[in-house]
Amino acid sequence: KGPYTIAIDGPAAAGKGTVSRAVAAHFGFAHLDTGLLYRAVGARMLLGQDPATAARELAAADLEAGDLRGPEVADAASRVAVVPEVRAALLDFQRSFARRAGGAVLDGRDIGTVICPNAEVKLFVTASAPVRAARRHAELVAAGSAISPEQVLADVRERDARDSSRTASPLVPAEDAVTIDTSDMSIDAAVDAALAVVTERR
Ligand code: C5P
Repeated sequence: KGPYTIAIDGPAAAGKGTVSRAVAAHFGFAHLDTGLLYRAVGARMLLGQDPATAARELAAADLEAGDLRGPEVADAASRVAVVPEVRAALLDFQRSFARRAGGAVLDGRDIGTVICPNAEVKLFVTASAPVRAARRHAELVAAGSAISPEQVLADVRERDARDSSRTASPLVPAEDAVTIDTSDMSIDAAVDAALAVVTERR
C-alpha cells in the first residue's frame, strides 16, 4: 500500500478527534492528532520555555505527557500556535507522517490548507459554538472538573477567534474540503458521514 492522506480539520470539540480515530481504524491507517503537538509546546511554554525552542526540540515523550488535555494547556496551545517559527518547526514531522506507507489520517486546523494541500481526501468537521461548548463541558465534568458551562463557551469562542483570525495558517476550510456539520448529528452519524465521503473517493 502506498501513501494515502486524509486531512481532517475543524474547530475544537466538533467531533474531529472521534471521527479521525474511527476513519483511521476503519481503513487501517495511522492517525496523528496534530493538536497534541501544539499542546505539548504550550505545556512547555507554561513551564517557562521559549515556544520556538520547545517546538524545535519536541520529542515523542512530550506527546505522552499525561496532562495535555486540560483547558489551561489548550489555551497555551492556541497562543503558541500563532507563532510562525513554532508552526514551521512542526511542519516536517507532520508531512512525513502524512506520506508514510499504508495511509494516514491527520486532524488539526491547517492540514488540508497548509500541511497536506495534496491530501487525497479533505474533510472539514464543524458544529455550532454552543453545541461544541456543551460537548466539551460534559467531557470536562466527566473528567472531574467543576468548570461552568458559561466558562467553557467563553473559552471555545475565544479559542475559535484566535485560531480563525491569526495570520499564520488560520482555521479555514480548504476549497476542496467536504464539510460535515455535526451540530445535529450523533457521533455514530458523524462517523458514518465521514466514512461515506472517504469510501466514495477511494
Ligand atoms: O485540536 P486541539 O484542541 O487539541 O488543538 C489545540 C490548539 O492547537 C488549537 O486551538 C489551535 O490553536 C492549535 N492547532 C493548530 N493547528 C493544528 C492543530 C492545533 O494551530 N493543526
